[in-house]
Amino acid sequence: MTITIRPMASRDIFQVTDIFNDAIVHTTGSFDSETKTTDQMTRRFFGTEARYPHLVAEQGTKILGWASIGAYSERCAYADTGEVSVYISPDWKGRGIGSQLFEQLIAAGRAHSLHSLIARIGEGNPASLALHHRWGFEDMGFLPEIGFKFGRRLGVHILQLRLMIPTA
Ligand SMILES: CC(C)(COP(=O)(O)OP(=O)(O)OC[C@H]1O[C@@H](n2cnc3c(N)ncnc32)[C@H](O)[C@@H]1OP(=O)(O)O)[C@@H](O)C(=O)NCCC(=O)NCCS
Repeated sequence: MTITIRPMASRDIFQVTDIFNDAIVHTTGSFDSETKTTDQMTRRFFGTEARYPHLVAEQGTKILGWASIGAYSERCAYADTGEVSVYISPDWKGRGIGSQLFEQLIAAGRAHSLHSLIARIGEGNPASLALHHRWGFEDMGFLPEIGFKFGRRLGVHILQLRLMIPTA
C-alpha cells in the first residue's frame, strides 16, 4: 500500500503521541523521561509551534512516523532557525520512512524561509546520525555528558543544515 507524506492534522495526534511516547520510554532518541498527553502534543503542534511545518507518513489510516520543525530559541535573532524532530513507529524503523519525511520536511523548511535547521542527537543513535547526514546536516560539535537518562550520562551531537535562502 502507498505511503503518503502529508501535513499533520489534529486527527493524527493520538498516533503521533503514541509514537513519541514509545521513544520516550524505550530510547534515548528523546531526552524526555515523562510521557506526553495528547493535550500537550496538540498544544505543541497546533499552538506554540503552529507556524512551523509538521509532517506525518501515513499508510491507509496508520501513521508510520512524523517529523517536525520547531523553534530553536524564542530569542528574536534565532527567528529563522528551526530545530528538527523525527520519530518513526517501532515496526517501521529502518525502512526509509525517516528519509521520505526528511526530504519533504527540508523542502517545507525552505518554503517557510528558514535559513538553518539544527538537530540535537543524543549519543549512541547511529540511525539518527545517518539520517541527518544523508540529508546534508553537518556535524558542528559534541557536548559530552550534558544529559542523564536510563542511569547514565549522555552527550549530544549538534548538527546544522544551512538552507541558504538568498536574501533580497
Ligand atoms: C532515527 C530514526 C528517525 C531514523 O528513521 P528511519 O526511518 O529508521 O531511517 P531510514 O530507514 O529512513 O534510514 C535513513 C538512513 O539511516 C540509516 N540507518 C537506518 N537505521 C540505521 C541503524 N540502526 N544504524 C545505522 N544506520 C541506520 C539508513 O541506512 C539510511 O542511510 P542511507 O540513506 O545513507 O542508506 C528512527 O530510527 C527512529 O524513530 N528512532 C527512534 C527515535 C529517534 O531516535 N529519533 C531521532 C531523535 S534525534
